[in-house]
Amino acid sequence: MKRKQWYKDMTFYQIWPRSFKDGNGDGIGDLWGIYEKLDYIRSLGVDGIWFSPLYPSPNADYGYDIADYYNINSEYGDMDIFQKVLDRAHELGMKVIMDLVVNHTSDEHPWFLAAKKDKNSPYHDYYIWREGKRDKDGMSHPEDAKKNPNNWDSLFEGKAWEYVEEVDEYYLHIFAKKQPDLNHDNPAVREEVKKIMRFWLEKGVDGFREDVITFISKEEGLPNDYVMPAAKGLGYYSNGPHLHEYLQEYRRVAEEYDCFLLGEAPQMTPKKALPFIGEGKEQDLDMMFHFQHMEADCLMTDYLQLPFNLRKMKRAFSSWQNDLEGKGWNALYIENHDHPRIISRYGDEQYRVESGKMLAAMYLLQKGTAFVYQGQEIGMTNISLPTLEDYKDIQVKQNYNTWKGLFGEKKAMKLARKSCRDSARTPVQWSAGEHAGFTTGTPWFVINENYPQVNVESQLDDEDSLLSFYRKVIAYRKNPVIRYGTYWELEKNHRNLYVYERSYKGKKVLVVCSFTKKPVCYALPEGWQSPNVSKVLGNYEGREDVLRPYEVAVYEKA
Ligand code: NOJ
Repeated sequence: MKRKQWYKDMTFYQIWPRSFKDGNGDGIGDLWGIYEKLDYIRSLGVDGIWFSPLYPSPNADYGYDIADYYNINSEYGDMDIFQKVLDRAHELGMKVIMDLVVNHTSDEHPWFLAAKKDKNSPYHDYYIWREGKRDKDGMSHPEDAKKNPNNWDSLFEGKAWEYVEEVDEYYLHIFAKKQPDLNHDNPAVREEVKKIMRFWLEKGVDGFREDVITFISKEEGLPNDYVMPAAKGLGYYSNGPHLHEYLQEYRRVAEEYDCFLLGEAPQMTPKKALPFIGEGKEQDLDMMFHFQHMEADCLMTDYLQLPFNLRKMKRAFSSWQNDLEGKGWNALYIENHDHPRIISRYGDEQYRVESGKMLAAMYLLQKGTAFVYQGQEIGMTNISLPTLEDYKDIQVKQNYNTWKGLFGEKKAMKLARKSCRDSARTPVQWSAGEHAGFTTGTPWFVINENYPQVNVESQLDDEDSLLSFYRKVIAYRKNPVIRYGTYWELEKNHRNLYVYERSYKGKKVLVVCSFTKKPVCYALPEGWQSPNVSKVLGNYEGREDVLRPYEVAVYEKA
């Protein structure tokens, strides 16, 4: 059966529920708040919503540690309001995809509670357990990292192993201690995953974003890692030996429902991705969230901070555009709940609106299915809090300690502020009113103090606002040149400009982006001087031979 390709011209809006909109006054975003705002979301022109996890969770990693796959977190609502949101979104013409987090569960999930109590429980083998290295006396010494089953690091908290006395074994946790890794080599676990998928698909959801799905198959024998200086183990669980096989099993469920599958894939390159997303018989995923373009100012997703390098960003975007052409489909994003705000990173807070518009057109006019993250459309920026304790994100705490050891406290705090995921997780700024219109109660987290200037209400009816610009660019994505056209990069080595052309059936679109506040002389390329060229989108009036700060101009040629 040829699968439908309805996802190809879509733009999704991502909701991180805790900070989207509070509907019941307890200070925490929820499904009642989301219900209120569905018309707003639709008014952006998007055709789908991706929900970050809505399931019950102790929130060690804000929902990415799931304690029950078949329910809604009571902080966010219940199944009735979820169904209401889902049905209304469908009525408005929007698809809905859920986050499927199955590389790990919460340590409070009943499977893990049974697994850690009793080696003979059928749930024990749902997780990855190993004995520690023992002393001559046969004792294991959990407090001694040298006794860990191998030398792998956790990406969030120390080493990747945690000792459990009841079973005298260690369990693997690539993320936090409270996120034990599931054992997908156990067929019973894979059956559970399929059951979870079916449960939500039966309710009517349209697909899944699969969290760190490329980590689910670990190298046999879990060998020590003598290659990586940090994040030891990554090479042994990223794109592991049975990944394709397991993804195929999950894919078959997706095919029963013609649903959409998007896999999160850290450390991915187009070459490595094609075996999984290449269109054809053995395709596993419709597309991947890859990270290369998000590492133009850092390495290893914010771990090592570097100055912004436009050429690095362009190389990443262009290689995914070119290498997937005619073979696979791209996912386009520049923000989500895991990265600081893009204007604070690749743009300029002094030119918040100009650079925000430029960044919007820069990625949304490439080929692929696009994602806009809550608050991105109004140009929310990073926060800066006084102390580490003011931050909530588990990842920044570990990074801070490493940085403190390397560079001292002051610099460590500076890096933490710059890179922290919390900057993307402050409540959405709906108005200039109390608590930015997010809640009538006490907000669960700080609100960015720029909310009186940066909020939805003030931008809604302003033709020149960033919000209005997002609407225009999202609408323009329906142009067949943007949906189907080939991609061609110009000015490849330019330090400040990103210029590309899209072509389809004799029609062309040219996107010119300046990444600097300095004026840049730029003449349109050959063939773009003719009278049948018109400017269709831009963040400044008219056209000059010198590009203005963070100017973006989009031209069309028939
Ligand atoms: C990726 C998610 O997007 C992130 O928020 C989470 O912390 C990790 N996976 C672990 O689930």
